[in-house]
Amino acid sequence: MSRPLTLVDLRGMKSRGERMVCLTAYDASLARLVEAAGAELVLVGDSLGMVVQGHDTTLPVTLDEVIYHTRCVARGLRSVAGRAVLIADLPFMSYATPEQALHSAARLMKEGGAQVVKLEGGEPQLETVQALSRQGIPVCAHLGLTPQSVHKLGGYRVQGRDPKAAQAMLEDAVALEAAGADLLILECIPSPLAAEITRALTIPVIGIGAGPACDGQVLVSYDLLGFTARPPRFARNYAQSHGAPDQALKAFVDDVRKGAFPGPEHGFT
Ligand code: KIV
Repeated sequence: MSRPLTLVDLRGMKSRGERMVCLTAYDASLARLVEAAGAELVLVGDSLGMVVQGHDTTLPVTLDEVIYHTRCVARGLRSVAGRAVLIADLPFMSYATPEQALHSAARLMKEGGAQVVKLEGGEPQLETVQALSRQGIPVCAHLGLTPQSVHKLGGYRVQGRDPKAAQAMLEDAVALEAAGADLLILECIPSPLAAEITRALTIPVIGIGAGPACDGQVLVSYDLLGFTARPPRFARNYAQSHGAPDQALKAFVDDVRKGAFPGPEHGFT
């Protein structure tokens, strides 16, 4: 299929049990490589604050910076008539109220060229997800380890391990879908919980450190390309095994498609 993908196509993939792939990109060159590798989704994540800007957290990233990187990525995708769906992160404190979220999301779409906006959090974000969705703005929700709350969470730790927290996350996921979320990212949670959430939702669920049962997988491209000094345990360095960036990205996409990534060593119980 050479036409641009849509959220409807992604739901179709979920219903057919076809695994989808998301990769981060922050500039036009990486966007072209990720597109060529065959990813269905390209994410301009606020991880750019850590892997591009060198901060310890994603908190300093501004809306203007995400817009700038999204515009670079959109240009890269356009230059190769890309088919991937472009998601951009709403950075920390750019969506503290529904009104602010609408304003920030509109800028990501109008100025950056994003097709979907991503935000972190469950129950407290329901009103915002509803407001965005009502205005026709596609939303990717993000549960589990939500890096913008790193200080509240007490570090980058696995989430949803105790039964109460697991139940709350499942309920949040169901409520986010009902509020209008189109996609859900689950980060760093036990694999059985991710499997349960994936089964409970009709929207595609993309995992990172969430085991093999999600509808798709996402990684920070710099982690799999070996650029990161201390990559997380749930990532695999494909550059080590496959060399050049285009080969490494393609190997990751192929592995996700055939269920060879993530392995048990990349997940949590
Ligand atoms: O910012 C980001 O790159 C992300 C992914 C890790 C899912 O949120």
